Amino acid sequence: MDITIVGAGYVGLATGVAFAELGNNVRLIDIDREKIEKIRKGIAPIYEEGLQEMLQRNMDRIKAATTYNEIDGIVFICVGTPSLPDGSINLNYVKEAVENAARNMEEGIIVIKSTVFPGTTEKILLPLVKRHSNKISIAMNPEFLREGKALHDFMHPDRIVIGARDEKTAEMLKELYKPINAPIIVTNPTVAELIKYASNAFLATKISFANEIGNLAKLLGIDVYEVMKGVAMDHRISPHFLNAGIGFGGSCFPKDLKALRAGAASAGYNMRLIDAVLKINDEQPLRIIKILEKYMEPRGKTIAILGLAFKANTDDVRESRAIPIIKELLKMGANIKAYDPMAMENMKKIFPEIEYYSSVEEAIENADACLILTDWKEFEEINFDAMKRKIVIEGRRILKNKEGIIYEGVCW
Ligand code: UDX
Ligand code: UDX
Repeated sequence: MDITIVGAGYVGLATGVAFAELGNNVRLIDIDREKIEKIRKGIAPIYEEGLQEMLQRNMDRIKAATTYNEIDGIVFICVGTPSLPDGSINLNYVKEAVENAARNMEEGIIVIKSTVFPGTTEKILLPLVKRHSNKISIAMNPEFLREGKALHDFMHPDRIVIGARDEKTAEMLKELYKPINAPIIVTNPTVAELIKYASNAFLATKISFANEIGNLAKLLGIDVYEVMKGVAMDHRISPHFLNAGIGFGGSCFPKDLKALRAGAASAGYNMRLIDAVLKINDEQPLRIIKILEKYMEPRGKTIAILGLAFKANTDDVRESRAIPIIKELLKMGANIKAYDPMAMENMKKIFPEIEYYSSVEEAIENADACLILTDWKEFEEINFDAMKRKIVIEGRRILKNKEGIIYEGVCW
């Protein structure tokens, strides 16, 4: 099939390249000229496991452009939906992308993949499409891709959700996803929109729940990881997303929960549970500083920060828990030596003033304390001998060798 992807970011690019791998012709459109130039040369502008290779072997089926002109077939809208100050999402990019797509096509399907509040596709985006043509249908098809594992998740999803307004559109999208072996739920766009928010809200709730139990467990001298191992064996609970630590970051969970809460508030409902999940998540990273303060007053001290990405195996720092921690330490007057295997370039844009090192060894040299904030595999075994004081506090449970150091976990 002929597919156009508007927005070649983490989601759009992975989606486009994966559709090409399945044999479709894919056109990627993005306003970012630099990104498009790279894609044209077969270079993935972001890190995503397997993306570079998959892009290269499908170059004959992939086109990339900054302009729309004459689109047909199925158009996926994957542009970003950043937060506004009140937590609700900025829909301008989505609206503009939908209008531009509709203006440049005679017929076909516009599929919303960007995460939007229930009602957006039918009440806001459909009227924009109708202004241009009655032959274009609209659908909502949420993504559940984890960064770092996006291509794997695309090829092996737990389910595919198609929110369509008519049978023909639903059938076309079912046909497109036919090579993928997964259950397909066909519903209306509004239900599809809420499935996405509810899924992310539930996963985020599991994490804040694990953190709340973890905070209590630490106080009682109990290892929360041992507790959750026992809890997770109940098949009704499942072992996933119960890892306590410094909380959730990334481009989805914080933004989506805030958008859900803001949208609910405008509809007259106060989401107390979601509010608590976000509050726990906001406080969680700062707990690591409270632990550090038990050992030293951070002012004038050198603190090594290992891990800047919002999780392992990505270069993405959006809403990384390292951000509030570094901010607070800088406010307290600490000197920061940072290291991350992939995310340093992105973090330099947020904190140009801190020192970045190209290895764990260099970052921890002469440090008064070391905070481990991302669960990169290379942090499993670290030789802390070069530190001034061997105080290590972990925000994620990754370190294996703890001999000869003073060690604490954020909630263990
Ligand atoms: C996507 C979804 O859009 C978001 O709603 C969902 O919750 C997470 O996944 P993501 O792919 O992570 O976001 O965002 P990003 O990597 O920022 O990609 C968005 C792309 O759209 C960028 O490449 C940007 O240049 C492009 N864009 C943005 C446009 O092409 N046009 C615009 O008007 C705005
Ligand atoms: C998430 C969803 O998983 C995906 O389905 C959705 O489409 C986009 O948002 P992503 O943000 O890429 O994916 O990462 P994810 O692996 O879900 O982790 C999110 C955050 O939660 C990370 O900061 C991670 O460190 C944290 N996390 C995850 C925990 O703190 N504990 C856990 O047990 C799991």
